[in-house]
Amino acid sequence: MGIEENIIPHDHLIKQSDRIKKLGYGPKLIWFTGLSGSGKSTLASALETYLYNQDFLTYILDGDNIRSGLNKDLDFTDESRVENIRRISEVSKLFLDAGVVVLTAFISPFRADRQQAKELVGEENFIEVFVDTPLEICEKRDVKGLYAKARAGKIANFTGIDSPFERPENPDVHILTDGQTVEDSLNELIKKIVPKLK
Ligand code: ADX
Repeated sequence: MGIEENIIPHDHLIKQSDRIKKLGYGPKLIWFTGLSGSGKSTLASALETYLYNQDFLTYILDGDNIRSGLNKDLDFTDESRVENIRRISEVSKLFLDAGVVVLTAFISPFRADRQQAKELVGEENFIEVFVDTPLEICEKRDVKGLYAKARAGKIANFTGIDSPFERPENPDVHILTDGQTVEDSLNELIKKIVPKLK
């Protein structure tokens, strides 16, 4: 028996529905997934700027603000990645409840974890964006120099090298970044996502 049996949630008076009425839009979780260096953070940031300027309340959760704080105890083993995404999903749910449009930018390599995030916040509130950049291109760009380190055996469990990435089978938005500018990708995101926020 866990301690959960002695935890009785308080039924607070102000609900998400009250916040939605005030804000005039339905908060959603926009979940970017893709390899390291695929462009998740860049696109999430571009979309956030657009939404922010359209008067949506927004927040980005990504590796920098989560893995250096809340999740700094986690590494890149499969178990840690599962826990990483589980916590991020729970945090996202709180933000959604607060009325915020959440954009997450994590590799989130496992299908089951993305599915769990979707179920946690409700299918109707979850928008999966697959930033589909081929491994060869991410590796060639190697913005952080991590692919070179992984190939040299200096980093273990690197996604795409010696740790798997399970491609989304049916993403809500599929961005093929190869041959596209950030602006092209952003326009595609705006066209497909903004109508879902209304
Ligand atoms: S996830 O797999 O748990 O979703 P997350 O998005 O939080 O990963 O972190 C990925 C970022 O951490 C990468 O973009 C990269 O900068 C850095 N990183 C460091 N080590 C690894 C590794 N072994 N595999 C993948 N990314 C790594």
